[in-house]
Amino acid sequence: MGLTKAPFGEEFVWGVSTAAYQIEGGYLQDGKGFSIWDDFVRKRGKIANKENGDVACDFYHRYADDLQLMAGMNIRHHRFSIAWSRIFPVGRGEVNQAGVDYYHRLIDHMLALGITPWITLYHWDLPSSLEIKGGWTNRDIVDWFGEYVAFCVKHFGDRVKHWMVLNEPMVFTGAGYFLGIHAPGRRGLNSFLAATHHAALAQAHGARIIKSLQPEGMVGTTFSTSHVEPFSNRERDIVAAKKADALLNRLYIEPLLGMGYPTDEIRALRKLEQFMKAGDEQNLKFDMDFVGVQNYTREIIKHSYFVPYLRAKLVTAQERQVPTTTMNWEVYPESIYHVLKKFSAYPTMPPLMITESGASFPDVLENGKINDAARVQYLQDAIAQMYRAKQDGVDIRGYFFWTFLDNFEWAEGYHPRFGLVHVDFETQQRIIKASGNWYADFLRD
Ligand code: BGC
Repeated sequence: MGLTKAPFGEEFVWGVSTAAYQIEGGYLQDGKGFSIWDDFVRKRGKIANKENGDVACDFYHRYADDLQLMAGMNIRHHRFSIAWSRIFPVGRGEVNQAGVDYYHRLIDHMLALGITPWITLYHWDLPSSLEIKGGWTNRDIVDWFGEYVAFCVKHFGDRVKHWMVLNEPMVFTGAGYFLGIHAPGRRGLNSFLAATHHAALAQAHGARIIKSLQPEGMVGTTFSTSHVEPFSNRERDIVAAKKADALLNRLYIEPLLGMGYPTDEIRALRKLEQFMKAGDEQNLKFDMDFVGVQNYTREIIKHSYFVPYLRAKLVTAQERQVPTTTMNWEVYPESIYHVLKKFSAYPTMPPLMITESGASFPDVLENGKINDAARVQYLQDAIAQMYRAKQDGVDIRGYFFWTFLDNFEWAEGYHPRFGLVHVDFETQQRIIKASGNWYADFLRD
């Protein structure tokens, strides 16, 4: 296809995604409280090169210029997240008015520039005071989260009509509460299962609150996804791939659709029952207005005796000697087509949106320019794969590129660059990359 946005239709939403901790900086500015990421980056050996998000892109101070740049690139939709601890420094109770005012300014600025705000309510930066009480392993978090969500809708809902409840619950529970490689750095099946059930309850509870306060609002939530394939046709690899698929792609969407957790594939998930109370099964379910699918790569899976619970492991992209990004993920935009098909095959699935898709490559700054041809290609291929799914009948309504600015990539620090706009973290200078210019042209009316 000659790549234009016309065949996606007038209503199709094109935008970019960002997240508070990855860009804002101002980590203690104007009364903000500590979050689990402010704590985690201070622990030894957790983040590459001992980096942190204390300053990041300094978006907290530079948002006006950055939004101007965004508008100049014809980007009309911005998915960003609210830092819970900027609004409630200790998670609940006392409000930090300066933090609320910052988001008022941000939203007003976006609207003045013709950019529609899409708010993610939770992109991983839990207030530390709530983690001390158990964080996502404490069932009370469902109510704490609900209070925070209600506050945001009541204060920003006069201008904001598009909401995403959680960002990738599988990643923050898996990496944060099972593997310990993301904040808060906890490990083990029990903390993972508790966090999983409470996050799944919170995703429906948060959505219910938004809808009750703003019936006309558009409410969704987002999921990490990977197209999963078995390494070989051997039965045990096929079984291993099914288990990995249940964990990576089904764990959170199925309870939301009212199907319960995928316990048939992964027996260890049956232990989720110890956290279930009467009425939970019903409360896990919510009819979202849209579902956000986020995709970066595919996974090839093989059987392994040595991996507890799953008996499955990844065959890495390096082992397979395929092209990779700086995250060591296989460059595989076809994955977008497959995950869209997979999600749309659930009979009660609402319309889909790609709420994140992108790639980190080793950008080279030459004569003041970044000719990131690989990212341009990735973006074009991703859009083409989305179009392929659309032509197959998938109800897809939007695409948000990850991400606008190079930023703090969690445990990997600043090395992986995902932006359409290059950031010099010493000087905070911004340079639009070739990919940014390509997207701007693509989006031009
Ligand atoms: C997250 C982003 C992250 C991106 C690239 C997604 O899992 O939502 O915060 O930067 O992937 O790793």
